Amino acid sequence: MEIAPGAHHFSGFLSLDRQVALVGDCRALVDGAVPAYVPVVRGGGKMHVRMLCLGRHWNGKTYQYEPTRTDFDGLPAPPLPAEFRALAREIAASAGMVLDADLCILNYYDAEGRMGVHQDKDESERSLAAGVPVVSVSLGDTARFLFGGARRRDPVQALRLESGDAFVFGGPARLRYHGVSRIVPDTAPPALGLAGRFNLTFRQYDL
Ligand code: SIN
Ligand code: MN
Repeated sequence: MEIAPGAHHFSGFLSLDRQVALVGDCRALVDGAVPAYVPVVRGGGKMHVRMLCLGRHWNGKTYQYEPTRTDFDGLPAPPLPAEFRALAREIAASAGMVLDADLCILNYYDAEGRMGVHQDKDESERSLAAGVPVVSVSLGDTARFLFGGARRRDPVQALRLESGDAFVFGGPARLRYHGVSRIVPDTAPPALGLAGRFNLTFRQYDL
């Protein structure tokens, strides 16, 4: 469903089997050799998610991408797995868009998790100008997702992102404000054995 020009919500994009496999990958990554952590951002506040960047690290202090986590432990961002890149391409194509992802931000939200309304605008100027989409995949508990306009004061619409849903915003929607106001506990499919929510956002820095 196209909820705005360039913004597409695909309800139930991933089968339960694919969700189970992807949750396994996410678990291994967030508790792996380069673990997810709670970033402290520019103003000094803690984010309300555990974050792990793949391919490139997003630095919450500088709002820039870098190869190693200079705002945290100096470890290198793990590589973006080839099957993640393929999934991002598949979802973008369903929206009639092209994405050759070179990074992914993997976030884990517990029952208290949330993310303030913001724009995704730290990718390269060329990528942003071309409207190369962000592709988002949700797993586990449902999120109340807010999708606004090009200006912070524009009205926002609230939608539920459920486990297996994909959301794509590119072209004229690429710089729209968005955020997560709350997680709805105990809504994950039982087969996932997951309390909380994983969200993956695939992006293309280089163009
Ligand atoms: C984000 O905006 O980076 C994450 C969105 C989400 O968790 O659905
Ligand atoms: Mn975002």
